[in-house]
Amino acid sequence: MLTPVLSENWADERAWTLSAYRERGGYEALRTALDMAPDDLVTLVKDSGLRGRGGAGFPTGMKWSFIPQDPETEAGRKPKYLVVNADESEPGTCKDIPLMMASPHTLIEGVVISSLAIRAEQAFIYVRGEVLHVIRRLRAACREAYEAGLLGEDVMGTGRRVDLVIHAGAGAYICGEETALLDSLEGRRGQPRLRPPFPAVEGLYACPTVINNVESIASVPAIVRGGIDWFGTMGTEKSKGFTLYSLSGHVKRPGQYEAPLGITLRQLLDLGGGMREGSELKFWTPGGSSTPILTAEHLDVPLDYEGVGEAGSMLGTKALQVFDQTTSVVRCVLRWTEFYKHESCGKCTPCREGTWWLVQVLQRLDSGQGQAGDIELLLDLCDNILGRSFCALGDGATSPITSAIEYFRDEFEAGMHTPSAELFPPAASMLF
Ligand code: NAI
Ligand code: SF4
Repeated sequence: MLTPVLSENWADERAWTLSAYRERGGYEALRTALDMAPDDLVTLVKDSGLRGRGGAGFPTGMKWSFIPQDPETEAGRKPKYLVVNADESEPGTCKDIPLMMASPHTLIEGVVISSLAIRAEQAFIYVRGEVLHVIRRLRAACREAYEAGLLGEDVMGTGRRVDLVIHAGAGAYICGEETALLDSLEGRRGQPRLRPPFPAVEGLYACPTVINNVESIASVPAIVRGGIDWFGTMGTEKSKGFTLYSLSGHVKRPGQYEAPLGITLRQLLDLGGGMREGSELKFWTPGGSSTPILTAEHLDVPLDYEGVGEAGSMLGTKALQVFDQTTSVVRCVLRWTEFYKHESCGKCTPCREGTWWLVQVLQRLDSGQGQAGDIELLLDLCDNILGRSFCALGDGATSPITSAIEYFRDEFEAGMHTPSAELFPPAASMLF
C-alpha cells in the first residue's frame, strides 16, 4: 500500500547530501530533461495527470502551458519565473517540511527541470520563516548544486541557465496564498492580489510566473525518470500518482505516509497502527482545517479530489487530523477559528470582521454561556464570509464551523448551558 518515492530514503541521515542523492540516481532525470524540448517536458507533465499537491489540485502541466511563450507578443518576450510555494502552514500539514529536510536535492532537481520546461532562468523557493533549520538545509543543498554545476549559468555543461534563490518568509499564513506570496517576495506586505490576471500571465514583477507547491515540483524528476505509464499505475483515473499524507491526532503512529491517491482513511489508519488505545474515531479533516470535517461514516471515502468532494469536503493538503470521542468539537473549532482570526490579513471586511465575530460567539459556546440563536448567528456569519471574501482564507475559515454544526449540532446546543471543559475534560483528550 505504501509507495515510497519521495520519502524512499528519509530514514538515511545522509539522504540530504548531494553525494547520497546521486548514489541513488539523483539528477539523472535532469540529464534526460536537458535532452528534451521544453514543450515536450510540459506535455509529459500534462499527460502524467500530476495535480497540484498544495491543496487545490490544479493540473500542473496545464498551469505550465499557460505561460506565454510566443516571442511575437509582449508577454511572450518577458522573463519567466518559477516560484516554489514552501510556506506550508495549513493546520495539520507537515509533508513539505520533512521532504525539504530529508531530500532537498529532490526539490532542487525538480526546480531545474520545471524551469527548463517553462523557459525560466530564475527560480525561487519561498520558505516559511519559522523553519530556520529547513532554510539552512536548503541553502546548503543549493550551494552544493551550484558547486557541482547543476545550477547556474551552465547547467550540466549545456549552456542553459537556471539560478535559484532560497527566500525566507516572515511567518504569515496568508503568504502561502500565491499572490500574497508574490507581494511578499517583491518586498511588500503580503496581501492577496485580485485574480485574474493569474500569476501564469502576470505574476512576479508583472511577468509570467508558475507557482507550484514543494511536493508537486519534487514529483517531477520521478515522472521524468519513471514515465507517465508508471505514474499512472498509482492513484485513480482523475487523481493519479503517489502523494504524501500527513496523519496526526489520536492515532498510534502519527507521521507522513506516502501512498497512492484514492486510498481511504481506514487504510491509512491501518498503516498508522490504528487509533490509540481506547480511542474511537469521532471526526477528522481530510486536508487541514480549511476543509469541512468528516466523521466515522466517511472512513471508506477515497482520498482523491473526486471522492472527498462527493463526501462534501475537499482533499486539500491531505492533512488528516484524527480526533476521538474525548475531543470537544466546539473547542476544536474555536481553536481553528482563533487561528484564522489571527492570520486574516485584514484586507477585506467579511474575513477581517467576520472571523473576529465568529471567535466571540464560539468562545461563549465553549464556556457554556451561549445565547439562544447563537448557532443561527454562526451560520449567518459564515454565510456572509463564504464567497464574499477576497481570497480562500475567508472561505476556509467557515468550513470547520458549518460542517461541525452539520454533524455535531447537539454539542453546540450544549454550549448554551454547559462548558466544553465539563463535557470533555481537556486532560482526557491529550491534544489540547
Ligand atoms: P485555486 O483553485 O484558485 O488555484 C489553484 C492554482 O491554479 C493557482 O496556482 C492558480 O493560479 C491556478 N489557476 C486557477 N485557474 C487558473 C486560470 N484560469 N488560469 C491560470 N491559472 C489558474 O486555489 P488557491 O486559492 O491557489 O489555493 C487554495 C488551496 O490552497 C485550498 O484548497 C487549500 O487546500 C490550500 N491551502 C494550502 C495551504 C498549505 O499550507 N499548503 C495553506 C492554505 C490553503
Ligand atoms: Fe485577507 Fe481574509 Fe480577505 Fe483573504 S479573505 S484578503 S486573508 S482579509
